[in-house]
Amino acid sequence: MAPSTTGSRAGAYRRYADVYDLVWRAAPYDQFADLCLGAASRAAVRPERIVDAACGTCNLVMEFASRGYHAVGFDLSDSMLERAVAKRRATRLDFDVALGDLRAAPLADGSADLALSLNASLNYLLETDEVVAALSHLRRITAPDGVVVVEPLAARFIHQGYDPGRHVRDDGFRMDASHELHGDLLVERLEWTVEGVEGAESYCQRYYDDEQFEAMMGAAGLVVVERLPMYPFIEAEPARGRMLWVALP
Ligand SMILES: C[S@@+](CC[C@H](N)C(=O)[O-])C[C@H]1O[C@@H](n2cnc3c(N)ncnc32)[C@H](O)[C@@H]1O
Repeated sequence: MAPSTTGSRAGAYRRYADVYDLVWRAAPYDQFADLCLGAASRAAVRPERIVDAACGTCNLVMEFASRGYHAVGFDLSDSMLERAVAKRRATRLDFDVALGDLRAAPLADGSADLALSLNASLNYLLETDEVVAALSHLRRITAPDGVVVVEPLAARFIHQGYDPGRHVRDDGFRMDASHELHGDLLVERLEWTVEGVEGAESYCQRYYDDEQFEAMMGAAGLVVVERLPMYPFIEAEPARGRMLWVALP
């Protein structure tokens, strides 16, 4: 049966927030930040204000905050943001969070020098006009002399799958991820046990090929200036095939 594509909060993480940071704790957010800053520099942008759209638990926001940038994250999931706020309290890092939808970014025009949305968050938007709306908001919240960096879902996840590395075994924690393809819709099922308590959640993403994505960037008024492969700058195998799109507003 084809997955449902309706529901205004369809992409927001709920129960997965309980274990998200256990799954992603080894992810190289410092290198994600370096890549984005390098791309900004090549676009002649020296950012001070950085916005991470669909920030999750704010791992990237915290990386920028720790380097002294004015960093803001927003996400549609209050469960993910609760974790971000708890980490802010624990680390005393200075950053802002807001509840908000990619399709209606909750920030003022021109409030970012560098606006980001990484890790295929845009692909939870299942219709092209929703992605164009989200990209248009990223353009709107970016200053005229700023830059936008986004990472859509990579083709490898559709064509080769991504089971390697999707089975986590750690102290008191295990998680297994599986997925199904329905045309260009990818449905991921996550099942985990943490300290004996079981949880599960499913998500649906739509894959947009490069041609479609470039057309959506153009429709949002963004001018693509670079496509930046993450690998081999990030040597870990899961970085293969992942691509940052760098655009001017
Ligand atoms: C794979 S996580 C990425 C989180 C973060 N960017 C990172 O790299 O750790 C995807 C995030 O997108 C958020 N999300 C999905 N649909 C959204 C929407 N329409 N607006 C804002 N956030 C959304 C989810 O709640 C989740 O936190």
